[in-house]
Amino acid sequence: MATMTSLIGLINKIQRACTVLGDHGGQGMSLWEVLPSVAVVGGQSSGKSSVLESIVGRDFLPRGSGIVTRRSLVLQLHQIESGTEYAEFLHAPRKRFTDFAAVRKEISDETDRITGKTKQISNVPIHLSIYSPHVVNLTLIDLPGLTKVAVEGQSETIVSDIENMVRSYVEKPNCIILAISPANQDIATSDAIKLARDVDPSGERTFGVVTKLDLMDKGTNAVDVLEGRAYRLQHPWVGVVNRSQADINKNVDMIFARRKEREYFETSLDYGHLASRMGSEYLAKLLSEHLELVIRQRIPSIIALINKTIDELNAELDRIGRPVAADGAAQLYTILELCRAFDRVFKEHLD
Ligand code: GDP
Ligand code: NA
Ligand code: MG
Repeated sequence: MATMTSLIGLINKIQRACTVLGDHGGQGMSLWEVLPSVAVVGGQSSGKSSVLESIVGRDFLPRGSGIVTRRSLVLQLHQIESGTEYAEFLHAPRKRFTDFAAVRKEISDETDRITGKTKQISNVPIHLSIYSPHVVNLTLIDLPGLTKVAVEGQSETIVSDIENMVRSYVEKPNCIILAISPANQDIATSDAIKLARDVDPSGERTFGVVTKLDLMDKGTNAVDVLEGRAYRLQHPWVGVVNRSQADINKNVDMIFARRKEREYFETSLDYGHLASRMGSEYLAKLLSEHLELVIRQRIPSIIALINKTIDELNAELDRIGRPVAADGAAQLYTILELCRAFDRVFKEHLD
């Protein structure tokens, strides 16, 4: 079974291989291009930012009713060996944030810096990196919510502007889609599912997440959806209960919220039988197993790239002439040796 530890080991190896290939020059590839990213898609206030936060396990995203997320947030998680967790923004590179409430404020402020305190959106993403011993290297993307109509203060084209922005992220084949649908709206007409189906017809990279189960009308439930009968997806649906607006106002922390969520499922008459397959922690586990699978599938293409680099290095060495012990040749030999070493390591990982 996939564990977080093996995922970390695997990603670290890929990272080192990418660095070596990168050093060789033009043939290099970036770790972040090789690794999959995870994006949240859904209607406004469906709970996208809340779900993303619970996957990271930290409170740092602006949440609330209305259009809160107005620029995409590209969040890179970087695993560090030890030390204090901190965050850094691309737009403020020398400033280290260790207080995650300050990170949230900076995201809001930086959103307003480009769009003003309006309901406008901007195509310019905010780049945030979190460095922590408790994360795996991964890119997560928080996106503005899909809407159906422009409201006062928004441009006429806002509906398609948002959809195009969201599409530009989720149409990439290495983007895993968390399609968020609130349980108190009709899931058959969910914007998230519609868009996900459009860019990922086979559903291999789409995870259906149902939020706000606690807000459904009395006497109704989402069992048909969660058991995959109402709308079939390739991966299992996961239901979650995030913090309500009242919880946010009261500063309810994540640990308490998770305990309450677990209790909700375990004691629920509707969902009790599904309890072990529901909740934010289960979603995070499902996602991490899927990531490991996807990354493993990518290893053959990394090996191919390594082999191509080996061939190119050999050709270059032939051209320079092996007998000439030029500095350049010595350097190429070193890179060649490293490439061969990675080739061996990755082949072991294929078994
Ligand atoms: P986004 O606009 O899709 O990013 O949604 P947010 O994460 O900002 O959440 C929008 C609002 O819905 C906030 O007030 C949240 O507290 C609330 N919310 C999100 N998920 C749930 C949930 O599962 N249950 C309840 N009761 N409220 C939720
Ligand atoms: Na919102
Ligand atoms: Mg949001």
